[in-house]
Formats: sequence, C-alpha cells, structure tokens
Amino acid sequence: MSFRLTYATMYNPPEAMHERFEEAMARVEAAGGARHPLFIDGADRDAAQYVERRAPFDSHLRLGYFALADAGDAHAAMEAARAAYPAWRATSVSERARLVRRVGEIMEARVYDIAAALTLEVGKNRMEALGETQETVDFFRHYADDFESHAGYVNALPDDPIDGAASHNASVMRPYGVWVVIAPFNFPLALAGGPTAAALVTGNTVVLKGATDTPWAGRLLADCIRDAGLPPGVFNYLSGAGRDVGEALVRHPHTSGITFTGSVPVGRQLMQQMGSGAYARPCIAEMGGKNPCIVTEHADLDRAAAGIVRSAYGMGGQKCSALSRLYVHERVADALIERLQAQIAAIRVGDPRRRENWLGPVVNATAYANYRQYADALRSSGARVISGGAQLGNHAADPALANGYYVEPLLAEAPLSHPLWQQEMFVPILMLHRYRDRDDAMRLANDSPMGLTAGFFGSESEVPWFHDNIEAGVTYANRPQGATTGAWPGYQPFGGWKGSGSTGKAIASFYYLAQYLREQSRTVV
Ligand code: ALA
Repeated sequence: MSFRLTYATMYNPPEAMHERFEEAMARVEAAGGARHPLFIDGADRDAAQYVERRAPFDSHLRLGYFALADAGDAHAAMEAARAAYPAWRATSVSERARLVRRVGEIMEARVYDIAAALTLEVGKNRMEALGETQETVDFFRHYADDFESHAGYVNALPDDPIDGAASHNASVMRPYGVWVVIAPFNFPLALAGGPTAAALVTGNTVVLKGATDTPWAGRLLADCIRDAGLPPGVFNYLSGAGRDVGEALVRHPHTSGITFTGSVPVGRQLMQQMGSGAYARPCIAEMGGKNPCIVTEHADLDRAAAGIVRSAYGMGGQKCSALSRLYVHERVADALIERLQAQIAAIRVGDPRRRENWLGPVVNATAYANYRQYADALRSSGARVISGGAQLGNHAADPALANGYYVEPLLAEAPLSHPLWQQEMFVPILMLHRYRDRDDAMRLANDSPMGLTAGFFGSESEVPWFHDNIEAGVTYANRPQGATTGAWPGYQPFGGWKGSGSTGKAIASFYYLAQYLREQSRTVV
C-alpha cells in the first residue's frame, strides 16, 4: 500500500485512498453471494451446512454462504495441524519468518478488497476497515522481524565446570505444538491474524476459529496464508458456532495452547479448561475492557473532546479498547460537555460504504437490542441523557437507515451507583461523572475488575501521576487521536491487567512471542 495508515493517522486520507476503496467495494460486492468453505490441510473443505449471512447495515444485502464447521471438521483440522507440526517445527527460523512475512505482503496487496469485505461483514467505516487490514499486515511483519531479531530465542550460556569436565549449556525455546486461535467479531482479521502470525513464526501449527458473526474475515486470511505457500496443515481455518467448534477445539487432546480474544465469561471458562486435564496448557486470553478516561481542570478541552468521541463511539463502541467511563473535574465539566455535544451532533450515522458516514451499525440484533435495554436502564434509573439514546434502524423514519442495526451515540451523566458503570456494554454509550478531587477520580477509574486501556487529559506535570496510579495495561495521555483506542503493533503494546488479560504480556510487545514457546535447558558434557 502506498499510504502509511494507522488508527492514529487515518483521519485525513488522500483522495486516491477513497477511490481505491470504492473500486474495491464495487468488485467485492459484485462477487457477493459466493460459498466460503473451510480450509483444512492445505485445501478447501465443504461443511455439511452453510449459513447465509447478510450485512449488518442492510438486511437485504446478502454477503454469501459460509461453512458451519462441526466437531468432525474440528477434529480433521486438529489432525492436519498435528501431522504438519514436526516438519514445521524443524523448518529454519529464517524460512518460517520468510513465509510469515510473505503472508503480510500478500495481504497488503489485497488491502482494499479485504477492507471492503470487513466493511460489508462488520459494518466498519472504510478507515476503520483499512486500518484493521493494515494492522494485520503489520502484525505479520512485526512478529517475523521480532522472532528473527531474537535469533529464535536461543541463548548460549556459560560452560559449567563439574569435576574438571566442562559442561556446555544453552537455553532453547521450543514451540508447544498445535495452537488454537479463537478470534472475536470486532477485529476479526487483526485479532485472528496477529496470534496466528505469532504462533506460526514460533513453530507452532494453527487451527483458527473465526467468530460466529464474522466468518468471512478469517477465510480471507486463510486465502493469504494459502497463497503465501505455507505447507498443508500448518494453518487451518474453521468458521462456525462457538459452542460446537470452540468446545471441540478446547477439549481436543492435541490442543497445546490457545489464544482467545472475547468476553470475560468465555475467557475465564477457557482458562479453567486449559488448566485442567492431564496437565495445564497455556491460555493467552484477551478479554474485555471497561475503559476510563480522567479529564482534569488543566486539560485542553478541545483535544480531550476529540479523543473522547473517537474512542467512545468509533466502531460503535465495539472495541475492547473503547472508552466507556469518563471522569471530569467539576470546574470544566460543562465546558467539556458542550464540546462533546457539538462533536456528537456532527457524527454521521449511516451506510458504512459511504465515505461521509463515520458510524455504521452495531454488529447484530443482540447488540441492537442491548443498546435499547441500556438506554432504557439509564433513563429509568436516575441518569441524565445528554445526547442520543435512539435506535435508528428497522422502523426508523429515515428509509436509508431502515434495514440496519443503527443506533445513536449516547452520552449520559449517571449516578455512581448505576450498575452500568461496572458492565461492559459494547455499544456506543459513554457515561460521565463530575469529580471534585483528583484522587477520587483515580479511585473511581480503578474501581473495576477490568484494566485494559485508560486515557488522561491534563497538564504535563500531572501525567506521571496518571501513569503511576492507573491500573491498566495500555495508557494514553493527552492524545486527541484516541483517548483509549488505537494501539498499533510496534508502537503501543496492547494487553490487559486484572480481568482484562490472562498473562500480563501485551500483544506485539517485546515479551509476546515468548508466550508461544517453552524453554528447554540443554546441558552436554
Ligand atoms: N488496536 C485496537 C485498539 O487499540 C484494538 O483500539
């Protein structure tokens, strides 16, 4: 791609980028309605059942027919991955890195077409869709470079003289075996591709399970991996329902490790399952967020408003990094609210294929119904709804929105006793509280079992206080491009503290790849 795109730099895209996206959208839509099989042992595999899927922004727009894997397909994928493992493990570090890098190159050449499919499947606006695709490309590159730069994690150690004879020592990091990746709907490409790249480059073979709502993204990733020439069985792709396929994968005796991104209850259940059986197996679980932002009386309120709106409402609040709790000093609260209202009023909600629309639909009927329930709960229990609160799809007066899961960005000032301060919502709802004392704001920000991302707007001298006290794995101070969102591989390691993550090691950090390896100490006399 000829443009450098990150989540933080995509707000003024060149015209040529729009044109190429629009051309790609026309191509991808014209090919709609195709069948998308599973990918197992280097070949397409038909499932017994296919499901027809439609766009979340238009229930008349058919995306295609997607394979619904069953337990038998899951078993076949595991067998293929197991059979491919010894040769893949023995493949040199440089060759594995070359092939993984190649996947990224192929994806980069298809960035517009893949982004168009993400817009159709998830309802992301074009910049979010291009951003996710480019991020996935960068994951493949980042992990290939990282693994090579660690020379495969082989450490020579000093000789150890015992009884006059030298023993020669080394520590060698070795893969585990078959790694299962379970991807979420909100970043169905990046959070499938990132862990897949990490597992592959470290010498594990992979079975990827896409989210129920987003089978297409994973299949497009599978096509890139196939075309990069990875040996059969090294990567396998299953689409289908979590309860059928996910369960079969987790319980499978060949499963050596799992990377899961998704909800807290499922993540915790997986951790328990992976910890039981004949022996415990690694489980990298990236779960939700209930992400706070603190705005002090010294903040630049224009910058704060920009960062807050992008992070609370971007992609309909459906990022695990989305901002949902805002703590504002009482002296600046009204001035900030005024700016937020102006920015919210300027948000265009609508068909995400169109360049002027910043906010597409939420992903499905459940999210759409949840929004209504949360908006009602806020209204009926003492909150002051400042902006938004309406569902716009289905029977809305505006026919352009009539067939999609569209909702308004909602801002509410809510009493601290409201239960929604503690609940991840995954819809575009931001709750606000005015504080008097800065330390109280910090206590409230940390009053959550989650600890993924956190934002801060204030003076430079207050920033160390924020960093030293906030309980979150990903922190941003004075960042108008995103108060809590927009981590990029190689720049912002991304991982949760407390209930948000299982390992305390962040995605694309210095420590990430080591989690896919087990250490073998080697002593030879
Ligand atoms: N990289 C995405 C973000 O930080 C998850 O918002």
